[in-house]
Amino acid sequence: MLDTSKFQVELKLFAIRLPRELCKAASDLLHGYMLDKPRTKPITKDPTSEKNRYIILSEKVQDPDLSDIPSEKIDELKKLFKVEVFPYSVTLGYSHWGADHVLRQILPPGTEAPSSFETIGHIAHMNINDELLPYKDVIAKVIYDKNYPKIQTVVNKVGCITNEFRVPKFEVLAGKADMTTEIKQFGATFKLDYGLVYWNSRLEHEHIRLVSQFKEGETICDMFAGIGPFVIPAAKKGCLVYANDLNPYSVRYLRINAKINNVEDCVKTYNMDARKFIAQLMVVPTCETQCASTEVRKGKNMRIKASVSVDTKPWEHVDHVIMNLPASALQFIDSFRGLIRRKFWKGSLPWIHCYCFMKLTDTRESILSEAESALKARIQDPVFHMVRSVAPHKDMYCLSFKLPEEACIWEE
Ligand SMILES: C[S@@+](CC[C@H](N)C(=O)[O-])C[C@H]1O[C@@H](n2cnc3c(N)ncnc32)[C@H](O)[C@@H]1O
Repeated sequence: MLDTSKFQVELKLFAIRLPRELCKAASDLLHGYMLDKPRTKPITKDPTSEKNRYIILSEKVQDPDLSDIPSEKIDELKKLFKVEVFPYSVTLGYSHWGADHVLRQILPPGTEAPSSFETIGHIAHMNINDELLPYKDVIAKVIYDKNYPKIQTVVNKVGCITNEFRVPKFEVLAGKADMTTEIKQFGATFKLDYGLVYWNSRLEHEHIRLVSQFKEGETICDMFAGIGPFVIPAAKKGCLVYANDLNPYSVRYLRINAKINNVEDCVKTYNMDARKFIAQLMVVPTCETQCASTEVRKGKNMRIKASVSVDTKPWEHVDHVIMNLPASALQFIDSFRGLIRRKFWKGSLPWIHCYCFMKLTDTRESILSEAESALKARIQDPVFHMVRSVAPHKDMYCLSFKLPEEACIWEE
């Protein structure tokens, strides 16, 4: 239980009464000597006269003769008005202090106050370390109180992520037990259930960076799409996107997000293993009439009538493939071998954007060599982009390269 009365402090101070129109000039002169406490204004009304204000002085000023303030400042004040000093008491309570201050009072000395958290819509996601777990409820209460109403649910990650959907287990420590929330990113709205799908707000820059490389009208495949942080902005840009995820809840939210962002027509969703997805996408249908005529959205707001067989033949052309599953995406690279049928393919080969972790023993050469062995081909001009540092000696990278012809072309 958090005893908020413990944070009550009464400060015995002094205040100067002055005509309200002189507040600005006087506070400039008294800079550094006025009350400086969180969520407390140093200038207040005089309850006996609307024409006057009080400037509350800081604890530095201990004497009513104001001898703690340089005499030249007092002389300047005296030129402006008749300086009258009054005793003034200020009571500061729990509501005045920030989360960091409150937590430092509650937690054992020497521990670091865990006042930071990741924000996902109305949810505050904390990773409370083992040492502070006995205090988890009180920590969550403080975070909730100090950030309400923006934050309405405080959760703590429990254990390590072990499932293939990369969804952590959470315990709700404070607020409502509602994990369905909405986020704005890159001008798009994303709805998600944070307890059921993968989401990482720290990847926002990466989502923007990669999508900025795509051009209107291009065809994109996202093998590990999640709820669509690459897919939806790419579709909003006028790309046609084939998006897959193994987690059925991710695909459910991906579809919802395509709908709420008004890009349903340019996002085709799949719920299967990424290897099967990419193989299935490249199968040339035996009967071209399967490719029914439909409406395809091109550009931002323009609807054009087009045949899917013209606009959506991934076995004829794909511009970019996204593989954001850093822990194991490299192990899926071999699925590109012999994938593309020369006689149907048009234009250049796709760019692959494969995310990976680089640990202490890894190098760019070792990562590249793993990708090349999987492809059984040399990669020309690979581009490594450092995305973020995940942990000490563990960085997330994006390896981008043009799929080498000798790896992926199937000659018949
Ligand atoms: C790191 S998340 C990335 C999601 C999204 N692209 C993003 O940037 O937020 C990886 C996603 O891959 C999905 N996934 C894991 N294994 C998969 C597999 N074998 N095939 C397809 N999707 C898989 C997970 O469910 C998860 O949504």
